[in-house]
Amino acid sequence: MEIKIEELKVLFSEEQIQTRIKELAQEMNSFYAGEEVIAVCVLKGAVMFAVDLVKNLDMPLKMEFIRLSSYGSSTSTSGKVNAVDIKLPDLNGKNVLIIEDIVDTGLTAKFLLDFMHCNFNAKSIKFCSLLDKKITRKVDIEPDYYGFDVDDKFVVGYGLDYDGYYRNLKYIGYKELS
Ligand code: IMP
Repeated sequence: MEIKIEELKVLFSEEQIQTRIKELAQEMNSFYAGEEVIAVCVLKGAVMFAVDLVKNLDMPLKMEFIRLSSYGSSTSTSGKVNAVDIKLPDLNGKNVLIIEDIVDTGLTAKFLLDFMHCNFNAKSIKFCSLLDKKITRKVDIEPDYYGFDVDDKFVVGYGLDYDGYYRNLKYIGYKELS
């Protein structure tokens, strides 16, 4: 499948995304209520979401960035997750909030949650994803927080890419299959 910009249909507009992020942030502000949070952004896809989300969080917060990859084609994941760059400070006793772009098969989320549990005795570990594609799930995992459900579409924009492109879009779009 090839995706051209003129073929993209808007799935979630900039306004819908920003409104939903404010709602999620409100939930988190009351859940953490002044407790310190370490927000772990999963590069590259979650970068836009993480940046906009943390701007709406009002507890003491530090940001960390990790990078993972999973081999596969441009529009499907292989099921094998690789830790490309996970350098994290000591997270023992911390409230860890993992920020991801999309939970698809769930393998990345599982890998990350297992990694955190194996390496740290955190005070809490929460998983937040902008999008939740439940229909393609391969492992039994649900994000603690998510922005929107998506059905079995390949989506791009607002951090999500097709072959590295379209991360810079302000909206989330998809190509309608004809
Ligand atoms: P997983 O299958 O849940 O492990 O998701 C792995 C990664 O695949 C996500 O973090 C995204 O970067 C990417 N991905 C999954 N579905 C989509 C999509 O529809 N568009 C763009 N990237 C996707």
